[in-house]
Amino acid sequence: MLTQEMRKLISEHSAGMVATINDDGSPSVSPKATFVILDDKTIAFGNLRSPGTIGNIGKRPNTEVCFIDVLARKAVRVSGTAKYLRNSQLSETQQGAFAEKWSDYMDKFAGIIEISITATEFILSPAYDLGLEESELREANLAHLQSLS
Ligand SMILES: Cc1cc2nc3c(=O)[nH]c(=O)nc-3n(C[C@H](O)[C@H](O)[C@H](O)COP(=O)(O)O)c2cc1C
Repeated sequence: MLTQEMRKLISEHSAGMVATINDDGSPSVSPKATFVILDDKTIAFGNLRSPGTIGNIGKRPNTEVCFIDVLARKAVRVSGTAKYLRNSQLSETQQGAFAEKWSDYMDKFAGIIEISITATEFILSPAYDLGLEESELREANLAHLQSLS
């Protein structure tokens, strides 16, 4: 389900905006920067401080996440069903994936939110419609970021 191109973007830009559904049907979008890829059909992030998101997925597991490469102006949208797993419920594979990427946070995680992927979409910015190349966008957007202080 996740292509190599998608895996690369998510690994390099591991902050995803996580959308869930509140009790009243309104959307909730929340930033999570501790994503790992468990396999081609599963991603997860660590629970540091996400009571609203965890409450929502417990009742309505449908979830979407959007990852953005702000330099190349590309994105990956992941749709799926989410579930919360406490640390005591984690497999060695799950623990290993987080230990490898987020070792500094291991004693801060209260558990993980695992998302079983049902659909993915690779999204290009309309900037590409203007005929701009990725290298040009990277250069311009990096310069912009470096100009911020
Ligand atoms: C850039 C950024 C990254 C974050 N990453 C995480 C994360 O990986 N895990 C987590 O539990 N909270 C993370 N947070 C904190 C939550 O997003 C924050 O506590 C939020 O208010 C939780 O809202 P929720 O309970 O509706 O999910 C992050 C916040 C920011 C700004």
